Formats: sequence, structure tokens, C-alpha cells
Amino acid sequence: MNAVELIETKRDGRALSAEAIRWLLGAYTRGTVPDYQMAAMLMAVFFNGLDGEELAVWTEAMLHSGEVLDLSAIPGAKVDKHSTGGVGDKVSIPLAPMVGAAGVKVPMMSGRGLGHTGGTLDKLESIPGFTTGFDAATFADLLEKVGVVLAGQSERLVPADRKLYALRDATGTVPSIPLISSSIMSKKLAEDLDGLVLDVKVGSGAFMKTVESARALASTMVGIGAAHGVPVVGLLTPMDQPLGRTVGNALEIVESIDVLRGEGPEDLTEVTYRLGMEMLVLGGISETRADARRRLEAVVSDGSALEKFGEIIAAQGGDTRVLEEPSRLPQAAHHLELPAQATGFVQSCDAYKIGVAAMRLGAGRRTKEDVIDPAVGVIIHAKVGDQVAEGQPLATIAWNDEGRLDDASPLLADAWQIGESRPEAAIQVIEEVRA
Ligand code: URA
Repeated sequence: MNAVELIETKRDGRALSAEAIRWLLGAYTRGTVPDYQMAAMLMAVFFNGLDGEELAVWTEAMLHSGEVLDLSAIPGAKVDKHSTGGVGDKVSIPLAPMVGAAGVKVPMMSGRGLGHTGGTLDKLESIPGFTTGFDAATFADLLEKVGVVLAGQSERLVPADRKLYALRDATGTVPSIPLISSSIMSKKLAEDLDGLVLDVKVGSGAFMKTVESARALASTMVGIGAAHGVPVVGLLTPMDQPLGRTVGNALEIVESIDVLRGEGPEDLTEVTYRLGMEMLVLGGISETRADARRRLEAVVSDGSALEKFGEIIAAQGGDTRVLEEPSRLPQAAHHLELPAQATGFVQSCDAYKIGVAAMRLGAGRRTKEDVIDPAVGVIIHAKVGDQVAEGQPLATIAWNDEGRLDDASPLLADAWQIGESRPEAAIQVIEEVRA
């Protein structure tokens, strides 16, 4: 096989053979095809796509580039949720214990934040002592004992994606439907799941800016799941404004605990329930979504979902006292209010600008090597549809470093638009995509 010929094939819009895809991804993972050739191939795929057959083989080749988990010895259905990423998207943190408390096993492998989007692992690691790196045996052990494990992706799982994702990030080839769907689905299929729920974010703070592109991404991933015998349901949810009222790692843990107490903000609570309902149905605990909702509400109101979060924190080495005493989480040294410049209704509260501002404050990373500050972020007081008076705080900025505050402030000052008319109420689930 010759990498140049394969690049030319895709560049010219022709399909790659199964043999060619397997060879290319294998050789790239081993290091015998260099980054510059793979970068050219990724750009060719970005422009010319992959057809159904190519995508199936590409995903399969990524999946088998490393270790695949075997959780078959653990009784019960295993269902995970994956989000395509957003701002203030802490859903996994209340969702996993809720669904675990309702009886479904949740082997959740999450990622870190990069750019303007936050990462579940970074949020969890703001809990003192909480660890997320486990080998396959410990991962299975935790799942069996606790019913939920919130971990990072092991080094051995889908090594092809680790290399490819970093290369895509550096070559402008991330927002491609076949590349995103093969990246996500190869990692999820390696978890040995019985079902998967996808939260496909749409809007300014998401990779997918339009409902059409989000729908196409969701259908592609649902199709990959079906081809592998794994039922997948995709929910398209809005990401024009941040989800919930906090953006920043420790701040988002506090808000997640609020959801587990039944005291979370409406949008975050609703998205968490809607995804959880799908997980309970896929996990065979509920026959209907209405029954699933009742069960989820019950584990919140009787305290067992919060208790399950305590069990997870204890099993993963964290300080469970944060549940009762959130002041044990990292705290920013300074707070600054951002006043409304006009009286009226909030028309928009831009997820992308707030996400970038939070990253500049230190809540996220510009590059993989950056060290995050778990304490900083933005507490949002006014969201779309809220009525505000001039001078009233739209948000509170939690900050530690003056230079970073100066860097973030102009974006925040520009993130809210206020107008005279009350905008339509936001919906929490735009569309459902099923096989
Ligand atoms: N998340 C992933 O895991 N991969 C992508 O390509 C995009 C988002």
C-alpha cells in the first residue's frame, strides 16, 4: 500500500477500499505513516466525506486499534451517555448517579475540556482526591461494586483516536461528520455497552451550528451503533446559551449536586432527565419513558441519587464532604459582577463567548498542556427570556488572576444582548433521532 496513492484517491472523491482503510489506520497508529500524510488524508476526508461502507470500516479499524473492554461478567445492562460537547454541560455528573441509583450500570468514559468546551474529567477532579484514571480491571471492579464509574479513557482504548484527534485539532479537521462520528463511536463501542444515548449539542457553543448538521451527525452515529448491534438514541439539545447557570469546574460540581437534590436549574434538570429516561429504557429498567421519568424523580426525591454520587466519590478516592460542604471545593479569591447595560429582556447569552471567556479565566485549556484553575468561572444570573434592569448583575465572574480577568472581560461584556421584546421560551430537546 502506498499512502500517497490513497490520499490521491480520497482527494479525487473516490472511495477507499476496506483493505486500504485498515492498512492506513493501522500504519498510522504504529507510526509508519507520518502525521503529514495523515493530515492530508484527513483534509481529503473533510472535503469529500466517507460513504457508508468506508465509514463502517474506518470505525471498525479505529475500534480494533487497541484494547476492547469485556464487561460481560458483570450482571445487568450497561448504558453510557456521550455529549458532543458544550459550555456549562455538566449533565454527566448528576446523570450517572441518578441512572445508577435507578438500577442501570453506567460505565462512563469522559473527556477533558479543550478550547471553549468544558470536560467532565476536569470538573470531577475539582473534588479533592477524586481520581479518574483506571486500568481495565479496576474499571470493571468499580462498575461491579458501585454500579457507576466515571473515568477517563484508558491509554489502551482506541489509540488511533488519541493520535487522530490531536492531529485533527491541529489541522482544522475536527468538524467533519464522518470523523467525529467514527471518533466517538469507536470509543463507545470499545466500552462493551448494551446501549448508548447521545446528546448532540446544536448552536453557537457546539461543533454543530445547525439542526441539519446535528441531525446528520446523530443519524450517522445511530447507524454505526445499529451496524454493531448496539442500540443508540440521539437527542438534539440546544447550545446557544450555556446549560444551567455555571461555567467552570468546581462551580459546575456545586450545580450538579443541586440537580441531585432536586434544586437544579430547569434547563439542566430537564436535559438530565430526558437523557436519563432514554438510558433507563435502553437498560431495560423501564418500558416507557413516562415510567423512567417517575423512577428518576423518585431517586432524586428519596435522596438515593445523591447517596450514589457519594458512593462514587468515595470509591474514586474523593472527599465526600463536598456534598454537604461545597466550600471544601476550590474557591476563587475574587468575584466581580457584570452589570446589564440596558433594561429589557435577555435576547441571547452567547455560549461560545462565555465558554472562551471561562477558558481565558483559566477554567479551560488553550492547548492540551495548559493547567486549569478549578476554582474560576462564570455564574450566570440572567438567561434568555429573563427580564433585567440596567445595572442589575447578568453574571458574577469568579477569578484569581488579574491578567486573565482582563483577557476574559471584553468577551463577557459582549455575550449578552438585551432587547425590548420577550423572546420565545427555550425548548430543551429539539429532536430525537432513533434507529
Ligand atoms: N468528541 C470526540 O470524542 N471526537 C470528536 O471528533 C469530537 C468530539
